[in-house]
Amino acid sequence: MSELGEPVGAAAEPSTASFCAFACDEESRRAIEQVAGELPFGRTMVSSGGIRKAIEYLGAHRSPKVLMVDLSGSELPLTDIDELADVCEPGVTVVAFGDQNDVGLFRELVARGVGDYLVKPLSPGLVHEALLRALQGQASNRRMNRLGRLVGVLGARGGVGATMIACGIAHVIAETRRRRVCLTDLDLQSGTVALTFDLDPSHGLREALESPERIDSLFVDRAAMKYSELLYVLAAEEPVDEDCRPLPDALPPLFEELRTRFHFVVLDMPRPSSPLFRPCLEQLDELVLVADPSLAAMRDGLRILQALAKTSGSCHPTVVLNRIGAHRVGELDAREFENGIGRKIDLRIPYDPKTVAAALNAGQLTFAERGPVGQAIRALANIAARCPAAETRSVVRRLLAFWR
Ligand SMILES: Nc1ncnc2c1ncn2[C@@H]1O[C@H](COP(=O)(O)OP(=O)(O)OP(=O)(O)O)[C@@H](O)[C@H]1O
Ligand SMILES: [Mg+2]
Repeated sequence: MSELGEPVGAAAEPSTASFCAFACDEESRRAIEQVAGELPFGRTMVSSGGIRKAIEYLGAHRSPKVLMVDLSGSELPLTDIDELADVCEPGVTVVAFGDQNDVGLFRELVARGVGDYLVKPLSPGLVHEALLRALQGQASNRRMNRLGRLVGVLGARGGVGATMIACGIAHVIAETRRRRVCLTDLDLQSGTVALTFDLDPSHGLREALESPERIDSLFVDRAAMKYSELLYVLAAEEPVDEDCRPLPDALPPLFEELRTRFHFVVLDMPRPSSPLFRPCLEQLDELVLVADPSLAAMRDGLRILQALAKTSGSCHPTVVLNRIGAHRVGELDAREFENGIGRKIDLRIPYDPKTVAAALNAGQLTFAERGPVGQAIRALANIAARCPAAETRSVVRRLLAFWR
C-alpha cells in the first residue's frame, strides 16, 4: 500500500457542509445565517471574509453544494471568480453578492458559471429567494455552472502505453495544475490503473456499471480511492473467470456524477470489443489515441480514427506515438506512420525504460515530471485541459493587479 494512498477507499469527508457562505460584513452574515438555518441544507457554515478567504478555504476542503460568496473588496472580481472555479468542485452552485450594482458585472459572472448575483444590503427575503432558486437548480440537476472535462486515453492496441499516459496526465493535472481529478479504469478485469497507483481496487465500479440504479450522490464516496488530496481513482480487478456485464446505460449517470465532482475525469478507455467502447467515445471531450511505431498499431489506429468519425461524438483526437525506439528493428518511421493513418502525429514519446519502469515499479508517478516522457505528458495535460497552464494564469493575475 502506498503511503500516499492512505486512507484508501475513503473518498468521503462526512463533515463537509452542504452550504457555505463567506461574507465580509456582519449584516450580510446574519441574514445568510438566518435563512440557511431555515432551508433544508443539512450542515451549513457561514464564515466572515470575502472571496479570497473562500478560495483559500475551498482549496483545502471539499466543496459544498451551494456556496455564497462576497465579492466586495475584490479588486479583480472576475479573475477571483475564475480562481474560485479552479478550486471548487464543478457541480457547486455559486451565489455571489457585493456592493457593485452593475449589469455588466452580473453578465460576466453568469457567463463564468455563477448562478446569481445579489446587490447589498442583503435582506433575509433576498437571500431566501436566491437560495431557494439555487436549491431548485441542484434538485432538478440544472446546475448552473460547468461540468468537469471527460478525457479518454485509448491504446490503438494492447501494450502501447495508454495506461502509463492516462496515469501521467491525471497526476500532472492534479499535482501541477491543482485541479480535482478522477482517474477511471473501465477495464473491470484486466485494468492496471489500481496496480500502477498501488491501490486496493474496489468492487464499487463493477456494481455501478452492472446496476446503474446504484449510482447516486454517494457513489463516489463509496467507490473511489483517494490517492492524494486532488487525485482519486476508480478501478477494479474483478476475477478473470467471472462474467462481468457492464451496461452502456450506466455510463451517462456515472459520467454525470463524476463530472459534477471533479474538474477532470481521465478515462483509461476500454477495448474496442467492450460494449462500453462506443458510448464512451461519444461522450468524450478529448481523446488521446496512443500507438507504438508498429504496423499493427498503425492499422488499428487508422481503424479507430475511422470509427471515431462515424460516432456522434465531437472530440478532436490527439495522436501520440509512444515507445519510439523500443524495438529499433522493424519500427515504422514517423512519416510512414503518418501516411498510414492519413494524418499527422501530434506528439512523439521515446522509449525510456530507466525513467518509466523504475518509477512505476516503485508505485510512483515521477516519470511524469522529468525527462522527455514527462515533457510529453505535461504537453498532453495542457491539451486535455484546453486552457493556459496554471503558472501562466497566476502570472496574468499578477500583471492585471499591477496594471490597476
Ligand atoms: N515511453 C515509455 N518508455 C518506457 N516504458 C514505457 C513507455 N510507455 C509505456 N511503457 C511501458 O510499457 C508497458 C506497457 O504500458 P501500459 O501498460 O501503459 O500499456 P497499455 O497500452 O495500457 O497496455 P494494456 O493493453 O495492457 O492495457 C509498461 O510496462 C509501461 O511501463
Ligand atoms: Mg492499459
